[in-house]
Amino acid sequence: MVGQAGRLAGRFIAVTGAAQGIGQAIAAEFRAEGADLFLLDIDGPSLEHAAAELTHLPGGALLHAAADIADADRVAQVFADAALAQGRHLDGLVNNAGVNVFHPPLQTDAAEWQRAFAINLEGAWSCARAVLPGMIAAGHGVILNIASTHSFTIIPGTFPYPVVKHALLGLTKSLALEYAAQGVRVNAIAPGYVATQKVLDWWDTQPDPAAARAATLALHPQGRIAEACEIARAATFMISDECPFMTATCLTIDGGLSQRQHA
Ligand SMILES: NC(=O)c1ccc[n+]([C@@H]2O[C@H](COP(=O)([O-])OP(=O)(O)OC[C@H]3O[C@@H](n4cnc5c(N)ncnc54)[C@H](O)[C@@H]3O)[C@@H](O)[C@H]2O)c1
Repeated sequence: MVGQAGRLAGRFIAVTGAAQGIGQAIAAEFRAEGADLFLLDIDGPSLEHAAAELTHLPGGALLHAAADIADADRVAQVFADAALAQGRHLDGLVNNAGVNVFHPPLQTDAAEWQRAFAINLEGAWSCARAVLPGMIAAGHGVILNIASTHSFTIIPGTFPYPVVKHALLGLTKSLALEYAAQGVRVNAIAPGYVATQKVLDWWDTQPDPAAARAATLALHPQGRIAEACEIARAATFMISDECPFMTATCLTIDGGLSQRQHA
């Protein structure tokens, strides 16, 4: 389901990690709402496929680039290329690309620690750095970081993912306060469990995937987890101009799970 048409008309918005999952759902929702899009993903073939599917839907410009957001030079280049191709600066960014890096703390080697931070935090910062000067010059821009309920709660054995997702909230608040007076808003969404490949893969790594799935659903007050489109609809509102006084905040979308004291 998509909302009323045209809520993002005239906007030029980048979405990272747009080849699948939450990022793909956000891209589809934003296109349906009239945005011009710049999509990034490390997985070039899947991104090509996702972009081709979107071009079948009515909408504005659709640019895309294969890029590893952990590569700061590549990020700067593809954002500059997109702005040049469209003849204007980006006025929206969704930092969605991310990876699960889950270990017990003392079994986390330096490479895994570094990978978690390079993609989930430094990647978001590199993309923000690429768009902020244009937003500040224009006096208008919105950045939305896809955080997690791991940004304020801990599941043992998922280290250092919650450490880096806590830091992503810190980045959100810091940039929001630094650039509020220049017309830039920076917010976050904290999803709980969302039915994407990442979660299906995690269930599949468990000794009994069906039991793991049932246990996850049973944790939730509504007896289900979120669909990616439910995150995308909230993202549309937060990246739009419908909430101009909303900045430095984080919207939790977890079906109430993080407020539950006991099952
Ligand atoms: N699925 C969930 O339950 C859930 C819950 C809370 C938060 N999140 C967050 O939402 C975001 C999206 O999650 P998802 O479930 O859709 O994941 P996903 O694995 O389905 O999709 C992530 C996308 O990001 C891309 N990507 C990964 N590393 C990249 C890199 N270095 N550079 C560019 N692109 C890269 C992947 O190729 C993929 O297309 C992540 O930041 C994740 O931490 C997900």
